[in-house]
Amino acid sequence: MTQPKTLVETLHGRKTDRTPIWLMRQAGRYLPEYRALRAQAKNFLDFCFTPDLAVEATLQPIRRYDLDAAILFSDILVVPWGLGQKVWFEEGVGPLLEPIAGTDELKRFEPQRMVEALAPVYETLRRLKTALPADRTLIGFAGAPWTLASYMIEGGSSRDFAKAKLWAYGRPESFQKLTDLLVDAVATHLEAQVAAGAEVLQIFDSWAGALDSAAMRRWSLEPIQAIVRRLNQTAPQVPVIVFPRGVVTGYRDFAEAGIGAAISLDQHVDPAWARDAVQSKCAVQGNLDPRWLVVGGEGMRAAIQRILDVLGQGPLVFNLGHGCVPETPPEHVTELIATVRSYR
Ligand code: CP3
Repeated sequence: MTQPKTLVETLHGRKTDRTPIWLMRQAGRYLPEYRALRAQAKNFLDFCFTPDLAVEATLQPIRRYDLDAAILFSDILVVPWGLGQKVWFEEGVGPLLEPIAGTDELKRFEPQRMVEALAPVYETLRRLKTALPADRTLIGFAGAPWTLASYMIEGGSSRDFAKAKLWAYGRPESFQKLTDLLVDAVATHLEAQVAAGAEVLQIFDSWAGALDSAAMRRWSLEPIQAIVRRLNQTAPQVPVIVFPRGVVTGYRDFAEAGIGAAISLDQHVDPAWARDAVQSKCAVQGNLDPRWLVVGGEGMRAAIQRILDVLGQGPLVFNLGHGCVPETPPEHVTELIATVRSYR
């Protein structure tokens, strides 16, 4: 028998003796050992698709810190790549994609080959399952359809999502076809991660906050709901954390719709509002401003306490409101974890 793990227990709504903690982007450029490892790969996607390197990157923060979970080292953009879109990462620029402008381009995609193309990702998970200490939880993840669509249409990161919103708002039937394709691809990718050993899943809708509230329901909430419903059938033992970043009061809509075991909150959400509107219905995750981790010290400890004072009585997974930034001093992560562990 394996021991019950704090993160999984919290996500199942069971009381635990401590608050589980992990950090989005806990592996990354703020760690010197990550930068050294990264230098061994010729580009970022190659790094993600080399199990030796991806396993090591996943484990680096686990060796340094008392974290409850390891998150697979990969990227959300492996899904468009696996479907057959050109995706690459330019140093100092970020992700670039050969953009799609309509449903014609979808005909060139080969969704039936995605799982085969992403075999190294699942191999990484299988190796992690063996390498990870028995008391840590292994998290798999994927991007949500809207966030993936935005990168696929804009050809990279965007400020205003002008092209993606023109398509979604102006040609909704056509955009629905792209969304349906992505719902299936994301669910398939997450199911393959579960088969390879993922114990918890997180769905990142990083740009859900760019949509107006009606569009948020149609292009963020509903597709994520379809994915989670499918996972609840095919992998009922695996809790799903949903992160529709920036949706303001929309987090309550996700909670009321019963989507996911937990909802991850960005740092702009008031914990007292979240306790009543969200945590009354499901577990919450979050939501320290990642900039507090750069500052550290008394200010950071007070910010952590404000979250724990309000959300610490209910089901809470401590995390940031978004990912660790590269300027984070690694010792501040030690301080953060110690503060959460010693709370009351
Ligand atoms: O530790 C972890 O959290 C696991 C690994 C992880 C990465 N990306 C590694 C990565 C995860 C969960 C992601 C998710 C991801 N990727 C998201 C959703 C979360 C979020 O940040 O909102 C998004 C939008 C992406 C797309 C992406 N990947 C961008 C925009 C960039 C460039 C920006 C940047 O920080 O460089 C990436 C690259 C990327 N993904 C890096 C890492 C560690 C940095 C690449 C490098 O090492 O040079």
